[in-house]
Amino acid sequence: NEGSLWGARFASGPSPELAALSRSTHFDWQLAPYDLDGSAAHARALAAAGYLSDEELAAMLAGLERLRADVAEGRLVPADSDEDVHGALEAALIAAVGPELGGKLRAGRSRNDQIATLGRMYLRDHARAIGAQLVHLIDAIAAQADAHRTAIMPGRTHLQHAQPVLLAHHLLAHAWALSRDLDRLADWWRRTDASPYGSGALAGSTLGLDAHLVARELGFAAVTENSIDGTASRDQTAEFAFVAAQIGVDVSRLAEEVILWNTREFGFVTLDDAYSTGSSIMPQKKNPDIAELARGKSGRLIGNLSGLLATLKGLPLAYNRDLQEDKEPVFDSVETLEVLLPAFTGMIATLTFHTERMAELAPQGFSLATDVAEWLVKRRVPFRDAHEITGALVRYAEERGLGLEEVDDAALAAISPELTPEVREVLTVEGSVASRRSAGGTAPEQVELQFGRLAERVRAS
Ligand code: ARG
Repeated sequence: NEGSLWGARFASGPSPELAALSRSTHFDWQLAPYDLDGSAAHARALAAAGYLSDEELAAMLAGLERLRADVAEGRLVPADSDEDVHGALEAALIAAVGPELGGKLRAGRSRNDQIATLGRMYLRDHARAIGAQLVHLIDAIAAQADAHRTAIMPGRTHLQHAQPVLLAHHLLAHAWALSRDLDRLADWWRRTDASPYGSGALAGSTLGLDAHLVARELGFAAVTENSIDGTASRDQTAEFAFVAAQIGVDVSRLAEEVILWNTREFGFVTLDDAYSTGSSIMPQKKNPDIAELARGKSGRLIGNLSGLLATLKGLPLAYNRDLQEDKEPVFDSVETLEVLLPAFTGMIATLTFHTERMAELAPQGFSLATDVAEWLVKRRVPFRDAHEITGALVRYAEERGLGLEEVDDAALAAISPELTPEVREVLTVEGSVASRRSAGGTAPEQVELQFGRLAERVRAS
């Protein structure tokens, strides 16, 4: 069992069946650069504690750098006999610098503290990349809102016409949700900013190595407070998977709207050719596949989270081999988001909005009824009565196929003496939108305020 990390106490090597089940190099090899970073930091800690001479440290670091180049250029790949990335790189180091020196690196560390640290390093790198992509998406949404500051659309609840709103207000609602995901990434970072390296298998090490030196080298602000927790916890991994799933869900909700808006029935948007797809049989088709894939992939992101939580549930402390199963779900979440977000951002940035169509639909469905009721309240009619009177007005208009503004004076008076002709002043979508001046409301001056605040929030995350 040459090259293995643990052969000596066994009379025979592992069965091929065990080796096939146990092997993780087909997915953990992408942690190789982090493994090499960890090894370099660990070599420095060994040298600082007197276990490597200056010459040995220099030779070790040079060997690790050679491996880094070999991995990057594809010259070094795991062998069939390698169980995992750690074993494969140790075997390669020994081949590079000799067994005498190469065999010294493993002192005072375990694959358990290694993998716990590398997982965090991988996720931190990708959290940065995903955060940057999220900022681009938020910027694209805000730019569309900015380009349509006065457009009015039907605001909906239950997918029914509810009250008119500014298109910019609606778009910014999505941007705010995504800004909280950015915030979540920043918050997650704080909890992931400690290095488990030096926790050993579970109990720490006897060699007097400086874990703070290793943590600093690897870019962590601190060392984990408890070596058992350091090696056994994966809540950081699960929380990352949650944030990824939440991003997927937030993107999916906007995706669903784009799909609806892009139908002939809505006619609110046209997709750019570069961000839509055709049909193999129907020559006229132009499909919103990016939005549909966004909706579909959110299911996959949720699956990664729930699968991971199921793996963690019931695991006794400390390390158990089940934890090897933590990697593929989050690798998949990372890869999914990193290919989804740029495509989705491009689709949003190139959407054409048909504001005249939105404006035409905005007053339909009696969407100004709340304005009538609130107009009555301002005339000191109790809201309960105002609601009744307006309901009667809607019924009258609906039965006759009229808009609320088309009901004549006599009919208004017959429904209620409170309904004087001045009520028509609030029966325009522009008037309705302009008068919703409450904090965070859809009035233009309130929406105006959001742009700066959103930019501030994004910068703060
Ligand atoms: N490949 C393992 C993982 O991904 C790390 C190695 C720990 N293995 C062990 N037998 N203690 O979790």
